[in-house]
Amino acid sequence: MLKARDAAQSLGIALGRASTDHQSTYCTGRTGTSAQRRILQGIPALPRMPGIAFARSLRRSISVAAPVSASRHQVSANGRAAGAVRSFFRKSLRAAAPSQSADPFFDQVSARVRGLTLHGVKRIAVLGSTGSIGTSCLDVLSASRDRLRPVALTAHRRWEQLAEQCRQFNPSYAVVTDDAVARDVRRSDFPSDTRLLFGGDGAAEVASSPEVDVVVAGIVGAAGLRGAWAAVEAGKTLAIANKETLVVAGPLVMDMAARTGSKLLPVDSEHSAVFQALQTGRSAEVRRVVLTASGGPFRGWTAEKLKEVTPELALKHPTWDMGPKITIDSATMMNKALEVIEARWLFNLRADQIAVVVHPQSIVHSMVEFVDGSVIAQLSPPDMRLPIQYALTYPDRTEGISPRMDWTKACSLEFHPPDIEAFPALQLGFEVAERGGSSGAVLNAANEVAVDRFLRCELAFTDIPRACRAVLNAHDFSSSPTLSELLRLDRWAREETARWRV
Ligand SMILES: NC(=O)c1ccc[n+]([C@@H]2O[C@H](COP(=O)([O-])OP(=O)(O)OC[C@H]3O[C@@H](n4cnc5c(N)ncnc54)[C@H](OP(=O)(O)O)[C@@H]3O)[C@@H](O)[C@H]2O)c1
Repeated sequence: MLKARDAAQSLGIALGRASTDHQSTYCTGRTGTSAQRRILQGIPALPRMPGIAFARSLRRSISVAAPVSASRHQVSANGRAAGAVRSFFRKSLRAAAPSQSADPFFDQVSARVRGLTLHGVKRIAVLGSTGSIGTSCLDVLSASRDRLRPVALTAHRRWEQLAEQCRQFNPSYAVVTDDAVARDVRRSDFPSDTRLLFGGDGAAEVASSPEVDVVVAGIVGAAGLRGAWAAVEAGKTLAIANKETLVVAGPLVMDMAARTGSKLLPVDSEHSAVFQALQTGRSAEVRRVVLTASGGPFRGWTAEKLKEVTPELALKHPTWDMGPKITIDSATMMNKALEVIEARWLFNLRADQIAVVVHPQSIVHSMVEFVDGSVIAQLSPPDMRLPIQYALTYPDRTEGISPRMDWTKACSLEFHPPDIEAFPALQLGFEVAERGGSSGAVLNAANEVAVDRFLRCELAFTDIPRACRAVLNAHDFSSSPTLSELLRLDRWAREETARWRV
C-alpha cells in the first residue's frame, strides 16, 4: 500500500498544482485511501470541472497507476513512478472529458497537466544546509532545478549563511536549530514567504512535513538523529550523510524504516558505492563489502609520530574537503570505524562481512565481493556532489556537475591494508559493529567529545581512541536498548569523556 500511497500522493500534488489558482489541493494522505479521498475532495472546488465523470475517471486512474508504479519501481513516487502517474492522469483527463476540449478551463487544466513534467519535481529538505554536505547538496539542487526543489533548509548557528541560501533558493521553510542564536536572527534577511522556525522541533517538523519528499540528513554528529528519526518515522526517503544516526541507533532506525516504508539512500561516498555495486547481485550472493579509506593526512605515520599531530595538521585532508569533525575522524580513522558500523546496519551485514582497505587516491569509493569471487567497484573523482545527486535522483541517473574520470591520463590505484596499531580507532569500529546494542551510541558520543577536546588542545591526537576505548569499556552495556536508553547513555558517555584524563 505504500507504493499506492506514493503514487496517489504524486497525483495529489499534480492535481494540487493544476488547481493552484483555484485551491491549493496538496495531498498529505497517509494511506492510499485517504490520499485518494483528499484528491477527490479537491475536485469540486475546481470551477467548471467536468464534475463527477472526471472524479470517477481520476479514481480509476489512481487505482491503475498505483500498481503500475509499485511493480516497476522499488522506491519513490517521484521520477519514473510519477511519470506513470502523470501519464494516467493525462489519459484520464482525456477519457473524462473529450467533449470538453473546447472549454477554456479544460484547456487550462490540460496545459497545466502537460506542465507536470515540471512537477515530477522532488521536494527536498536539506538538514544542515550550511555545512559541507549541505552546500554540496545545494550545488546539486541548483543544477537540477527541473527535477529537485529545496523546500526546507536548516542551519544551527550560521543563520546569515542560511538567510543567503534562502534568498537564492526561496524555500518554504528555514530552520535555525540553535535556540541561543534565535534572538540574533533578523527576520528581514529572509524572503517574506519563507516560514522561519527555530530549534530541534523545527528541524523535526520540516523533516516530517507532507510538503517534503526527500530529506537530506546533513547535520553533523548525534544531533542529526532527531531530524533523521522524524523523517524515517514519517516514511520519507532519507538521503543519509549523517552516519552517526545509524551508529547510535542503527537497529531502531532500520526497524522503523521497515515499518513506515521509509527508504534510506546512502550519501556517504563509500556506502553509495556499495549501494550501487549491490545492484549487480542479490544480497544472499554477497561475500563481503570492502570499504576504501584514503588513510587521511597521516597515512604511513607510526603510533609514536602520531603523538605530535596538532589540530592544524589534522584539519588538512589530502583528498576531501569536509567539515572539521569528519576531517579529524578521517585523520584518526574513526570515520572509517563509524562507516563500518553504518554499513553493518544499512546493508544488514555481519561485522565479519566488512573489510577496510587503504586507497590513497580516493577514486574507488568501495567494492562488493560476491560469492563467486567477482568484485564490483564504483569509481569517480572524489566529489561528494556525485553520491548526493545519486541519492536524490535514484533510481534515475542524470547529467551532473561532478568531475569525470579522465582516462587519457595515466593513473595508478593503490590498495594497502590498514595499520591497526597506528590507528586503533578502526578496531573499535569492528568491535562495535559486532557487539551492537548500546555500544554504538557510547562510542559515538565519546568520540564527539574527544574530538572537541583535541581541537581545544586538551587531548593529544592519540588520546582520542584511548578515551573512546576507556569509556566504551566502562559503560553498562545493553543488548537491545530503547531510544531513550540510548540518549541517556549518549549523555553519560559525553560526561565521562569530558572528565577523562590520560
Ligand atoms: N563532508 C563530507 O564530505 C561528508 C562525507 C560523508 C559523510 N559526511 C557526514 O555528513 C554529516 C555532515 O558533515 P559535514 O562535513 O557537512 O559537517 P559540517 O560541515 O560541520 O556541517 C554540519 C551542519 O550541521 C549543522 N549543525 C551543527 N551542529 C548542529 C546541531 N547541534 N544541531 C543541528 N544542526 C547542527 C551545521 O549548522 P551551522 O553551519 O549553522 O553550524 C551545518 O549545517 C556528518 O555526519 C558527516 O559524517 C560528510
